[in-house]
Amino acid sequence: MNHPKDETYTQAHTDFSQDLSYGDYLMLDQVLSAQRTLTPAHDEMLFIVIHQVQELWMKLIVHELSSAMGLLKQGIVDPALKMLTRVCRAQEQMAASWEVLKTMTPSDYLQFRASFGRASGFQSHQYRLIEFLFGNKQPFMMRPHQHRPEHHRLLEQALQAPSLYDISLHLVAARGLEIPQAVLQRDFSQPYQPHERVRAAWLEVYRHPEQHWDLYYLAEKLVDVEDNFRRWRFNHLTTVERIIGHKQGTGGTAGVPYLKRALDIVLFPELWQVRTDL
Ligand code: HEM
Repeated sequence: MNHPKDETYTQAHTDFSQDLSYGDYLMLDQVLSAQRTLTPAHDEMLFIVIHQVQELWMKLIVHELSSAMGLLKQGIVDPALKMLTRVCRAQEQMAASWEVLKTMTPSDYLQFRASFGRASGFQSHQYRLIEFLFGNKQPFMMRPHQHRPEHHRLLEQALQAPSLYDISLHLVAARGLEIPQAVLQRDFSQPYQPHERVRAAWLEVYRHPEQHWDLYYLAEKLVDVEDNFRRWRFNHLTTVERIIGHKQGTGGTAGVPYLKRALDIVLFPELWQVRTDL
């Protein structure tokens, strides 16, 4: 118990009538009043908090990823790698949140599922933006955002722009390795198609890491990011299956079969192929 004369804390600032306080700086009144439950069900609070926490991590990921891509475009690798490391750590935090959510049973979920109608993570604009930045470009996925022009615009910009992988391939070319013009000047709004010459370029990097150290390190960082993304998908799928089984999703997809299909998505194909070639 604290002693009233304990000077380790009695000098603490206590008057915030003129100064910015912790809660004011972090806008906690807004943040902590944003958990609006629609039912008296006990577990609805958990459900809302887990989604909001993940959306906050996604916000940080978009922030880091956009800056990292900007740096890589200018050929600045080390600070970009530091940001991508932070993306990986944030992904790990997102993955860890399933452990908390899994304490909710199918019966608990049914207490409030009907209350939010057709709302679903399928309509998360930040998740879709991250997918587009990583290069998984599916124009159909912009449709749920037609009613929110600012979100739609963000997605449209990311759809048309080079992805993290496209930018990395430009860097590989700038370092003197051969990347075909057809790859460098492709239509970025289309999903990336693997190319033999790109595979050969990465093979060269992995065969001689000491000559291409930062490209080698960048490649491994991309694999970390994709590895973590796959884990998120897999843990989400398993959590969904244990909570709703094979019921249709509130977003209108087939649910588990749709999420299983997404496990086959490959973001940086040649970086996985090169493992076989080595
Ligand atoms: C009870 C927990 C959950 C269930 C039952 C669930 C269920 C589903 C289902 C069935 C889908 C497929 C789309 C649909 O038809 O709705 C989906 C998609 C999605 N969910 Fe969840 N989910 C849960 C928790 C979460 C959480 C905590 C997040 C964190 C933000 C999340 C994010 C997403 C995202 C981003 C998608 C789109 C995935 C894609 O299109 O590849 N979900 N969810």
